Amino acid sequence: MVLGRIIAVHSYKGGTGKTLLSVNLAATFVKHGKKVCLLDLDFRAPSLSTILKIEKAEHWFNDYLNGTCEIDKALIDLSDGINNDGKLFVGLANPATEAIRDISAKDRKWEMRALGRLLALRNSLLNDKGFDYLIFDTSPGLQYSSINAIVSADLVIVATTFDKSDVDGTRRMLRELYDLFEKKTEIVLNKVLYDVSSKFGKEEVQTRIKDIYQVPILGIIPCFCDVSKAEGNIIFAQERLEHPFTKILDEMAYKIDNNKA
Ligand SMILES: Nc1ncnc2c1ncn2[C@@H]1O[C@H](COP(=O)(O)OP(=O)(O)O)[C@@H](O)[C@H]1O
Ligand SMILES: [Mg+2]
Repeated sequence: MVLGRIIAVHSYKGGTGKTLLSVNLAATFVKHGKKVCLLDLDFRAPSLSTILKIEKAEHWFNDYLNGTCEIDKALIDLSDGINNDGKLFVGLANPATEAIRDISAKDRKWEMRALGRLLALRNSLLNDKGFDYLIFDTSPGLQYSSINAIVSADLVIVATTFDKSDVDGTRRMLRELYDLFEKKTEIVLNKVLYDVSSKFGKEEVQTRIKDIYQVPILGIIPCFCDVSKAEGNIIFAQERLEHPFTKILDEMAYKIDNNKA
């Protein structure tokens, strides 16, 4: 039996597209018939509740990490209306100000216990419940919750841009963080402006990233006005099947799936 995999979507800086990628990668896998659990580990700036338009949850993913509920209670089943074998479950970070303050004040001991509960998901969700993929949307940088997500993952997808400070920070993280944990790491270069910086065609961009990062590239995503204009209201992989953004996500999902073989 092939077991599922845990993917952490991380970055050095904020706004690089982690949430966009996490949601659309999850939707893509579901479209390909996979059973997927998308988890919001960005407890400082929760986004999934807004993007998925879920205002209230009986239990949040915070509660699972706090040890006040089991994982089944912290997940919401969004599989209704999916017309293939795909399934989508989500665990949401609580967006209430109080909850954000509460989780920011946790000490090291709490974080260690939270890591234990995160690691336990491999058994409870992948082995017992038969999920194909768990996708962790994380906070940027070296937040404890993000380190925990990286430690628990089989594959780290690092979303990055050509922004100078992002490049420097990402390179440092590659050397000092992902390597340290011996994690399989792949880069997604996002918000590429092909025509604005016309001296870089697609191939030049590819060579340039390979030189900079020296790790495999999972994908290159242009800056799409349509994505910007949608203001987070459209899940392209689900609702804009012919859009080039959706096609790039399809390719990424196939790549990830084939690595598993
Ligand atoms: N390739 C892209 N083209 C256009 N807008 C993008 C692209 N990638 C991300 N964005 C936009 O950038 C903003 C930040 O993305 P988000 O996924 O929230 O980043 P993060 O989760 O890393 O902070 C969002 O408004 C998102 O729609
Ligand atoms: Mg985000």
